[in-house]
Amino acid sequence: MSTVVSVINQKGGVGKTTTAVNLATALAAVGKTALVLDLDPQGNATTGFGIGKNRGRHNSYGVLLGLVDPREVIVETYVSGLFVIPSTIDLSAAEVELFSQKDRESKLKKAISNLEYDYILIDCPPGFGLININALNASNKVIIPLQCEFFALEGLAQLFSTIQSVKSAVNKDLIVSGILLTMYDRRNSLSATVANDVRSHFKNLVFNTVIPRNVKISEASSHGTPVILYDIRSAGAIAYIELAREFLSKELR
Ligand SMILES: Nc1ncnc2c1ncn2[C@@H]1O[C@H](COP(=O)(O)OP(=O)(O)OP(=O)(O)O)[C@@H](O)[C@H]1O
Ligand SMILES: [Mg+2]
Repeated sequence: MSTVVSVINQKGGVGKTTTAVNLATALAAVGKTALVLDLDPQGNATTGFGIGKNRGRHNSYGVLLGLVDPREVIVETYVSGLFVIPSTIDLSAAEVELFSQKDRESKLKKAISNLEYDYILIDCPPGFGLININALNASNKVIIPLQCEFFALEGLAQLFSTIQSVKSAVNKDLIVSGILLTMYDRRNSLSATVANDVRSHFKNLVFNTVIPRNVKISEASSHGTPVILYDIRSAGAIAYIELAREFLSKELR
């Protein structure tokens, strides 16, 4: 069975997609098999791997709604052992379509239960809709990227309470693997202040690894490639490789 990890934060633009794409790439680089499930209608993880967005049902929309076998829609990447289920804008209709279905909160769990990868990383959309409830329900673990900015902590209590509700209702083994500080800017004292606040509040729930603000990361995504492949020596690539190492070491504990 796969370990399913939701990369989630209801806030937009905090580094969810960047983390899903690069952590998966780093895991594949150390010999794990990894699948990125793009569950965001924006499809940024899909384009982040230079993959086109298929309309119709051969994508995460079809998988989520149980219209298609996930094996039929999995796309190979140019990284050995790394695969993607692409997304499409059609997924934005899924929230409404799921609403009338009786097993609306567990569709995804059922759909991906037979997939065999070491890790399935779900790139979650911002917000708190049924798509994200499905992601949490289908997951063993959660990674929460947190941008080192003012208001970073805003909404975090709500996210933890949503995770707690999913735990008590349907998925008691769900665990928070860690909070990941992203876009850390060492020239900006606010970054350090936010990082200290988060660490003093959440203690060892916060990954030691910090993802710096690094222009190579945004350049790489505009080139449709993970930063680890775009510039392995960049600070961004090094940080995501370090995150994979830390993530795997937490798995052993
Ligand atoms: N560490 C970083 N340094 C510089 N730019 C970054 C970094 N992390 C992410 N970015 C850039 O910031 C933007 C937002 O990042 P990303 O798409 O990963 O966030 P997100 O949480 O997935 O956003 P959304 O909520 O819209 O899905 C992207 O353009 C990305 O390339
Ligand atoms: Mg995203």
